Amino acid sequence: AAVGRGNYRHFMEKELHEHPAVLGDTLRQYLDPKTLEVRLPRLPFDPAKITRLTISACGSAFLAGMVGRYWIEQLARLPVDADVASEFRYRNPPLAEGGAAILISQSGETADNMAALRLLKDAGQHVLSVVNVPESSMARESHGALLTVAGPEIGVASTKAFTAQLAVLACLAIGFGRARRELSTLDEGRLAQTLLEVPSHAAAILEQDAQIRALAVEVAKARDVLFLGRGALYPIALEGALKLKEISYIHAEGYAAGEMKHGPIALIDSEVPVIALCPSGPLFEKTASNLQEAAARGGRVMAFTDAEGAAALSRFAERVIILPKVGEFSTPILYAIPVQLLAYHVAVLKGTDVDQPRNLAKSVTVE
Ligand code: AGP
Repeated sequence: AAVGRGNYRHFMEKELHEHPAVLGDTLRQYLDPKTLEVRLPRLPFDPAKITRLTISACGSAFLAGMVGRYWIEQLARLPVDADVASEFRYRNPPLAEGGAAILISQSGETADNMAALRLLKDAGQHVLSVVNVPESSMARESHGALLTVAGPEIGVASTKAFTAQLAVLACLAIGFGRARRELSTLDEGRLAQTLLEVPSHAAAILEQDAQIRALAVEVAKARDVLFLGRGALYPIALEGALKLKEISYIHAEGYAAGEMKHGPIALIDSEVPVIALCPSGPLFEKTASNLQEAAARGGRVMAFTDAEGAAALSRFAERVIILPKVGEFSTPILYAIPVQLLAYHVAVLKGTDVDQPRNLAKSVTVE
């Protein structure tokens, strides 16, 4: 049956509001809420036996893969290479005999990633795919597939499929950590608990729609926008920039906060909004000091943080949006939602075709 957009103005808006349900459904698939244990189906490789992991994907799915890299390296102490499929397929990287790879894709049909899949299989790698469409080519041709339970995503800009990919990768990182004896049962339970709180936090974030819309009014006036984040929030800064470019046609760049002084700081003036993803936690002080530098150069700092972070950032930020205080592990999943919502509101204000942005296809099936 055809999917409708109900009472929402656009599919993208509807899909943004599906975040709590989709994240709940996806997490329930791989996490037992009673025992707080990750339950993965049989994988095509043993995470305890591999020495390196390759991740390949395109666009937002690649950004999910970048977050996956931070998580898997941290929790499972397994080295990970994450690459865009269009580079990976021509890079001819040395691959360990019997190595393992994860391919990520909403559609499961993206041409460059299909080519990466065939190349990996030819090189004797064991390939697991994380896909949203169960009957897709990628799901069928991989040695194993983990499904994101996001349902059909119609808006060309990925929203719920992206966060569902993150939810699956978070479970994989925990599962790998356990298999490699890098995580105690206690750690696993603590991380699982953090993930189980994600759907309700996602709902609380969506309730901040009016505040995010007010921020969008400012952002819509800009010609260039800079998104900054650190650690696993760096890929989310890239996702914020990608989403804004895609649907509002405003030039945006995502940067690792610590890289700012290596170039992009030259762009900063009173015209450029600097959108920061800066929750309280271990990396807070570092990012906050980068933001202070931006403000000192006349930059308009607009920060997503929590109440604790807001206390420090309000001293120099033009705008602070206070999100719920969430477990550090889940910040990439939850901070993706307001940046997607921001891009949505900017696009609506600019009057672009939100669900069908110019020049873009939902699934890129040609090279
Ligand atoms: C994201 O908003 C995009 N429209 C795009 O980058 C997308 O994520 C990419 O084309 C990958 O598609 P896939 O997940 O279907 O492989």
